[in-house]
Amino acid sequence: MTNITYYGHSTFLLTIDSKRILFDPFISPNELADQIDIQSIAADYILVTHGHSDHVADVEEIAKNYHSTVVANFEVATWFQEKGIKKTHPMNHGGSKVFDFGKVKYVNAIHSSTLPDGSPGGNPGGFVVQSEQATFYFAGDTALTYDMKLIAEEFDIDFAFMPIGDNFTMGIDDALKAAEFVGTKKIIGMHFDTFPYIKIDKEAAKKAADTKGMELIMLNIGETITL
Ligand code: NI
Ligand code: MN
Repeated sequence: MTNITYYGHSTFLLTIDSKRILFDPFISPNELADQIDIQSIAADYILVTHGHSDHVADVEEIAKNYHSTVVANFEVATWFQEKGIKKTHPMNHGGSKVFDFGKVKYVNAIHSSTLPDGSPGGNPGGFVVQSEQATFYFAGDTALTYDMKLIAEEFDIDFAFMPIGDNFTMGIDDALKAAEFVGTKKIIGMHFDTFPYIKIDKEAAKKAADTKGMELIMLNIGETITL
């Protein structure tokens, strides 16, 4: 069983084998998440999919508070290292690494990745995490791509975090196809409602998932579930 807490946008905290893994922290600039105090978020690892500010905004502060290890592509990891974060772990596409909570593979995403100060953030990605508790895919920001079928060939995915906000990433219809590609029926929606461009009709999204026999989970900000 894995505890999953949602902090808005694409920010999730998972507890795996007593390690706290935080994904794409963007909390303090997010008005919808203003009830969340980032000082209360402890993370052993921070996994960052790409360099956009809506995925990296709170990385530095949380990593410095908790001596978290920041795992990201080479360019993004190096950028944080230069900001004085002591523990960074660079990866690149196709590479896997075994950490003390499980194996992490950095996989393709179709998107962009410029860092907040205009530095090149390398190429964007997603993560597949394989642990004793669960195996899941965290898509990051991406379009639908046939590459996702490779994930189903290699892994037995229990659930997948997918962007559903459309405009900058997949919308619900492509996310449902992506879930089919990676081989899961359980989707945790992310990257929706934060900005006017990505406001969605949540009822319609649920219905679309139901029609395909899939489960779409859209958490409230601050909510924790166990999967
Ligand atoms: Ni992005
Ligand atoms: Mn984004």
